[in-house]
Amino acid sequence: MRIKKTLGGKYMRSYKNDFPIFQKNKKFVYLDSAATSQKPKIVLDAIQEYYATYNANVRRGLYPIAEKATKKVEKVREQVARFINAKDPSEIIFVRNATEAINLAAYSFASHNIAKGDSVVTTIMEHHSNFVPWQQLAIQKNADFVVLDISEDGFLDLDLKIKKAKILTLTHVSNVLGTINQIKDIIKQAKAINPQIKVLVDAAQSIPHMKVDVQNLDCDFLAFSGHKMMAATGIGVLYGKRELLKQMRPFLYGGEMIKEVSIAKTTFTDIPYKFEAGTPDIAGIVSFGAAIEYLKSTGIETIQKHENRLIAYSLSRMKEIEGLTIYGPKDIEKRSGVVSFNLNGIHAHDVAQVLGDMDICIRSGHHCAMPLHKRLGITASARVSFYIYNNEEDVDKLIESIKKVKKIFKYG
Ligand code: ALA
Repeated sequence: MRIKKTLGGKYMRSYKNDFPIFQKNKKFVYLDSAATSQKPKIVLDAIQEYYATYNANVRRGLYPIAEKATKKVEKVREQVARFINAKDPSEIIFVRNATEAINLAAYSFASHNIAKGDSVVTTIMEHHSNFVPWQQLAIQKNADFVVLDISEDGFLDLDLKIKKAKILTLTHVSNVLGTINQIKDIIKQAKAINPQIKVLVDAAQSIPHMKVDVQNLDCDFLAFSGHKMMAATGIGVLYGKRELLKQMRPFLYGGEMIKEVSIAKTTFTDIPYKFEAGTPDIAGIVSFGAAIEYLKSTGIETIQKHENRLIAYSLSRMKEIEGLTIYGPKDIEKRSGVVSFNLNGIHAHDVAQVLGDMDICIRSGHHCAMPLHKRLGITASARVSFYIYNNEEDVDKLIESIKKVKKIFKYG
């Protein structure tokens, strides 16, 4: 195991060695983990092992490899439940991604609980995946679509508009500003104002980087994706409180979600299977199990501390660059490992493209958050986002390359 001295003077292991993608090109700097994370070798090995040694469909076959695959899927469901401290594994529904999880909640819960005159509340800092499904639902149901604003520093402005709301749906961490919403306090406050309100938390940008405990938060639903936390793409989770999930109607109809089917009618099986029609992404679920093992063995607190250090370092180095505007909270304790910025007079796409030519991967555009960009008075931003495999050298390369971008565009 290679260890490396960090800015804080402490020695830490080089996590890059766990990720095959960094072995091919030592110059490669990946700063787009908020879009998708890189995958450690143990995740790639788990997928290979599944396909090479026990590839079979689940909850159907009675032969040994089918039973092994079924047991593995249920073991991962238990791992996920423990990871977020759900009361019971049946509260974990496997879906494709956080987007599908939110759509499931919107259609299966809200479509039967929201009527004309009710309100659905979200925030201006949402990713489109936690904005458009609710907006469309409100339009269909003739309900009010209420959008909470943010303060100048990027924090939520929770107000009495939630008094009549049936559901409040909000992000834990902004994928643009990096703001960590004080979700526990917000849920407590929302339920004090309106005891009937249900709260959905979009945890896509928080779970990979910090401890999330659904019982402690007292959220009703929580949505997240595996691919942002080192698992494969194509697997995500909707957590829901058992009593709520039991009352909800299925989202998709088909195989393995029924009790009995006749020409006249169909009865549905229990949770979570009621919501898992068709063959699931078995390899994705297997990869999720390996990813959780990796995160647990690394330690979610270690990850958070490491990213905090990188954020502090990158913010201080970015201040060296004249004409660079940073969005989001100034207090680094209140932000996660995402920094969005703009360079005066240079379009974010140009910044990202030139950095890409230098082997530095960042994202640019509206990051699927157009209402937020409009609120900030901009059309696009450049975004860097960190994970455990990044280090100060990556930040140094980023800063030197941004300075070169300015020279290329003859500015500064
Ligand atoms: N939601 C992901 C991002 O913000 C894809 O980049």
